[in-house]
Order: sequence, then C-alpha cells, then structure tokens
Amino acid sequence: MTVTDIFKSIFEAEPLVVQSPGRINLLGEHTDYNEGFVLPAAVNKYATVAISANNTGNIVMHSVQFNKTVTLPLAEIAPQTENSWTNYVLGVTDGLIHGGKKVTGFNIAVDGDIPIGAGMSSSAGISCAVAFSLNELFSLGLSREQLARTAQWAEHNYAGVACGIMDQFASLFGKANHLIQLDCRSIEYKYVPIEMEGYALVLFNTNVKHNLASTEYNQRRQQCEKGVALVKEKYPQVNSLRDVTMAMLHELVEPVDVSTFTRCKYVVEENARLLAGCEDLRSGDLIAFGKKMYATHHGLSAEYNVSCPELDFLVDAVREDADVLGARMMGGGFGGCTINLIKEEAIDRIATDLAPKYEAAMGKPLTTYVVLTGDGTSIVSKPVVAA
Ligand code: GLA
Repeated sequence: MTVTDIFKSIFEAEPLVVQSPGRINLLGEHTDYNEGFVLPAAVNKYATVAISANNTGNIVMHSVQFNKTVTLPLAEIAPQTENSWTNYVLGVTDGLIHGGKKVTGFNIAVDGDIPIGAGMSSSAGISCAVAFSLNELFSLGLSREQLARTAQWAEHNYAGVACGIMDQFASLFGKANHLIQLDCRSIEYKYVPIEMEGYALVLFNTNVKHNLASTEYNQRRQQCEKGVALVKEKYPQVNSLRDVTMAMLHELVEPVDVSTFTRCKYVVEENARLLAGCEDLRSGDLIAFGKKMYATHHGLSAEYNVSCPELDFLVDAVREDADVLGARMMGGGFGGCTINLIKEEAIDRIATDLAPKYEAAMGKPLTTYVVLTGDGTSIVSKPVVAA
C-alpha cells in the first residue's frame, strides 16, 4: 500500500503528497557548519508524506514504518523522548511557528525508502518533506532556502544535532544527474553535471547505526568553534574556519590545544581539497578526484576522528583495487556508508568479493547501493477535489 492509500484509510480524506530525497556527498564533510563548501547530490530514495488540514487543534501523525499513530495538541508542541520519529514533524511545525507562521491542526502519514542510519540523511528527507508540505497546505509563502533553514532548526532543537545546512539544502535543491557545489557561507550554489565516463558511485553500508554520532558531532562543532575563538583573539575579522589559514592554526591553536588544532586542520584542508576536486571534475580527471576522496577519508579518520573500524575496513579493502578510483566514509560518521568511485563493469566483482570479507571481519552484513541521483523535494499528487 502506498502512503496515500494508508493515509486515506486512516484519515478518510484526500491528502497532498510530497516527497523529499536523501543525499550523498562527494567531498566536503564536516565543512558545512564551518561555513565551508560541500558537494552533495540528491538520491532517488525519498521520504514521502501525505497530509491534510483537520480543522482541529491537533497534530495527528502516523508512521507507516512503525505502524503507529500519535496525536499531540498544537498547544503542547515540544520535543518528544518517546516516538522520536515524531520530532521531525513537530520540530518543523514548531520551527514554522517560531518564524511567525500560522499553522493549524493537520493529519500526516510519513513513509520512505531512504535507509535509516546509513548516513544518507533520511531525517533531512522527512523534515524537508514536512516543511514543503506545510508550506503548501497553509500557503505560507516560504522559499526553498527558508524551508531548508526551518528543517535545520528542527534538527537542532528537536533532534539535538547542531547540524549544518548541507542535508536539507541537498534534499530541497537536488537535481537528477547533478552535484550541488554549495558555499555554506553565502548559500551560493551551482549545479555540476555528474559525468563519470564508465565509472559509478557505489555506497557500501556498514550496517553500523551511528548511535554515538549526535554527541560526538556536537563536540566536533564545539572544537571548531574553540579553534575559531583562539584565532579571533589575534585576528578579530575571523568568523569561522572558512576565514582561517593553516598559518593561523600553527601560530595560535597548535601551541595551545593540539586536538583542536588537528580537527581544525582537517576542515581547512578539506575546503581546499573540495575546490581542487571540483576542478578535477571539470577537467574530467577522475583519477585525481578519487585520490582526494581517499585523502578526505584519511582526514576524517585520523584527524577529525569520526570514522569507525567498519568504515576504515571498507575503505582499506578497496584501496589497492585498480578499478576503484576513490573511497571514503560519507556523512556525519561513526557508521553508515562509504562512498566509492568504481569502474562500472567491476561493481559486481568488488561487491561480491567484499561482502563475505566484511562479514567475516566485522560480523555484520554488507549492503551495496549503486547510487542513482534524483530531483529535490516535489509534489507527488494534490488532493482530488470532488466535482
Ligand atoms: C551530517 C549533518 C550535515 C553535515 C554532515 C557531515 O549529515 O547533518 O550537516 O555536517 O553530517 O558533513
């Protein structure tokens, strides 16, 4: 049954149906909340919501995946510890209210096929679908960028993750067969066509759920802010790691706090790597681009310290294979997927070879996805109005 059918059977009304995708990211990890650059694309896996106004003071939420319905009066809107999936609906709603928008009661059913905990941002998929659908339903007049900010607000205030803007932006602005080169300081972006000339992007899912991730994530963000504060004492014009040079880090952070220095060093280098990587893509040099993916993994694992043994295993296992140009962990870290640039005809061989090796070494199954890109948030169907 589709989410539309399920919605109709529970709520006996015609819904507006909206879908919003998950994302991959090629380079630029943990740079977004440092006002740096990212290079994501939307995937063809989506969170889907069916919604209609209910003319009450209640939000009635149904999760297809959990087969559960939860009702909360709008007047009592707050983060939930039980049924944590409701936080994406409630957080976005509250974010809109905080932004001065009028939202009244609604019924919503939530479904999706973005793997949860795989680092493909299923949460941004849901929150962006909710934001887009509420904007439509209540004619709030918000732009896609404002919707991305609202979804980010929900992640900060309801899920407790002080995330950057990459995931929400990619979900709302994705374009099939294109990467988004986004400057997270100015929010300027350009679409870069994905031209892989016989190569494909493949995700290997560790099937490790990133439980530790939110605490560690927020700690990394704080360390970056600490690095900026140390630099700012001497260079007051500096506002984020985007403005910081390696020389500044050596001068002002390394002597005081080596751990903070190492984290900041990774971010500063990753921004430069992304810009150089975009040049590689423009000139069709996939070999050089792939090397940068490996370099990013090294930085994330050894310096930023957000990898885990399973992710490192998967990157090391393909490193010597001539048909793999690049591999690295993707997303926040501590689990989820690696992203790999692999010669198309070698994908089956590599995936078949890797799965038993991974399972023997790590005691978990390996899941492989060949990435297909997709478009950003869109309306699937509007309510059918009776004649
Ligand atoms: C998570 C966050 C993003 C970004 C990535 C790491 O996906 O939601 O904002 O920081 O981690 O690049």
